[in-house]
Amino acid sequence: MTVDSEILSTLRAAGERPISGADMAQKIGVSVGVLRRHVDELRALGYEIQASPHLGYRLTRVPDLLHADDLLSRLGKTTVIGRDIRVFQETTSTNDVVDKLARDGVKEGVAVFAESQTRGRGRLGRTWVSPLGKGLWFSILLRPKLRPDQVTQLTIASATALTRAIRHQVDLRPEIKWPNDVLIGGKKVAGVLTELSAELDTIKYVVLGIGIDVNLSASDFPPEIRKLATSLRIERGQPVQRPALASAILRELDHDYRRATGQDFDSLANEWEEQCTTIGHEVQIQVGTRKIRGRAESLDSSGALLLRTHHGHLERIIGGDVTLVR
Ligand code: BTN
Repeated sequence: MTVDSEILSTLRAAGERPISGADMAQKIGVSVGVLRRHVDELRALGYEIQASPHLGYRLTRVPDLLHADDLLSRLGKTTVIGRDIRVFQETTSTNDVVDKLARDGVKEGVAVFAESQTRGRGRLGRTWVSPLGKGLWFSILLRPKLRPDQVTQLTIASATALTRAIRHQVDLRPEIKWPNDVLIGGKKVAGVLTELSAELDTIKYVVLGIGIDVNLSASDFPPEIRKLATSLRIERGQPVQRPALASAILRELDHDYRRATGQDFDSLANEWEEQCTTIGHEVQIQVGTRKIRGRAESLDSSGALLLRTHHGHLERIIGGDVTLVR
């Protein structure tokens, strides 16, 4: 842990109780002077840290910004995801940053956030609007021991983790549209872009790119998607604290990554199916240039969608764009 994350977790744990500079410095293992310098730097970022004479320090307000040390201190210990967190003010796409880290041999679990992206991308070559400070735009490097055709298991894990974190942190009831769009009231609020580097029968690495429209207003969306997209702020009627949501998501992702790659995929798939509005419905799926229509029956053991066509065939679909047919 860095000095900043130690300071923030110590102050958070103390809550309303002030903690003296000498006690905190001793606990963290730095001098009082070094502690004071770090406290001043955190204040300059917008953390309100009150200092009362004879009593000590108290954290009275945290800014809505993404700070790697703050996220680490909130997250605590995870097995894989979020062991290393990096935050950029601006990038082209966090998927590109993580792809470069993967090629440089960085360990799995690193999470890269950006306050804004200049070339954020979505599935099927779409643009992903990523305005400054309004959303969670981040990517995670994974090196799972799975075959390339099992990558859908990670997609399922990410959608389940996202909906669980949103339910607990924001108290909204998201639904999943296959494979991993997260919707509220039928409008999209989050999406996942899974990019894969693989050899014939092994995955080299996966970049899981996640975009969540947290505090966007309707006017932040381009007019053509305003009817289809929403944000947590719009749905809840008040702003949502991004750092708390970000750390909750990383925690749930860490948990579901273990479920997806271990023996627990069946229970994960059941949880996913309970929230999925696609299963049991008549849908049309665009796979490349092909349009397939039928009833979405279930998931198979590797996370692919089983679609019963009108000819009675069961088609196994691993990717595509779903539209509900009403
Ligand atoms: C979708 O089309 O639903 C997937 C959207 C994924 C967007 C995220 S934002 C962070 C990461 N970087 C990108 O360029 N895309 C993903």
